[in-house]
Amino acid sequence: MLPEEYQKRRRLPKHLRRQPAPEHPFAYEIRRAEKRDIPDIREIYNYYVTNSVVTFDEKKWTYRQWLEKFEHLAKLGLPFLVAESPTGQILGYALISPWSGKSSYRYTAENSIYLGPGAVGKGLGGALLEALIRASEEFGLTQIVAVISDKGADGSIALHEKYGFEEVGRMGRVGFKFGRWLGVVYMQKQLKRRRKPLFRRR
Ligand SMILES: CC(C)(COP(=O)(O)OP(=O)(O)OC[C@H]1O[C@@H](n2cnc3c(N)ncnc32)[C@H](O)[C@@H]1OP(=O)(O)O)[C@@H](O)C(=O)NCCC(=O)NCCS
Repeated sequence: MLPEEYQKRRRLPKHLRRQPAPEHPFAYEIRRAEKRDIPDIREIYNYYVTNSVVTFDEKKWTYRQWLEKFEHLAKLGLPFLVAESPTGQILGYALISPWSGKSSYRYTAENSIYLGPGAVGKGLGGALLEALIRASEEFGLTQIVAVISDKGADGSIALHEKYGFEEVGRMGRVGFKFGRWLGVVYMQKQLKRRRKPLFRRR
């Protein structure tokens, strides 16, 4: 027997015991992204660049790269949403970027959605994607395409399916990251058509 096993275990009476910290409900507000959100957005994205194959980027994005993307999307007026916690932390983001620079594609765009690792699996992805779909309809888009890695992105595929995206194609072995080949799954959603598209010809 070890000496410490001789000692009797002491337990404080209930009123003196440390109370567990109250659980904070998972709360957030979804709003348009602003320039001040870029550092948090960058951190979320770079986490997946470094630790996963859900993005095919291999090098972390710089603040300047994000700023340029933010300003480009803002100029086009495309939806770029964030979810913010009551303490002001950005929990995740979802954005729409042009599918192609060719003008006939102007009703079609690509979406992107990333949550901070502590915010996954709590329903936020669904809420953000739903808000992004609504904002895209208001904008006047008619098709959204999601390009999803065929490895490690089961959650994303399931999420998009749940919100009405259908698989329309796959490409195998088009990416190479962390020493292995990766493919992509294309998923498409037809949006409700507005009478008056809000966007201008690019
Ligand atoms: C993909 C992602 C946005 C999903 O958001 P989330 O908040 O975790 O998902 P939700 O909790 O809103 O789940 C919505 C639905 O998606 C499905 N789903 C989510 N994660 C899943 C998983 N890992 N496996 C299977 N289904 C999953 C479920 O059907 C769920 O519906 P349910 O709640 O009725 O069961 C989030 O997990 C994430 O940011 N992952 C890492 C980055 C990433 O992969 N981004 C997409 C790049 S293409």
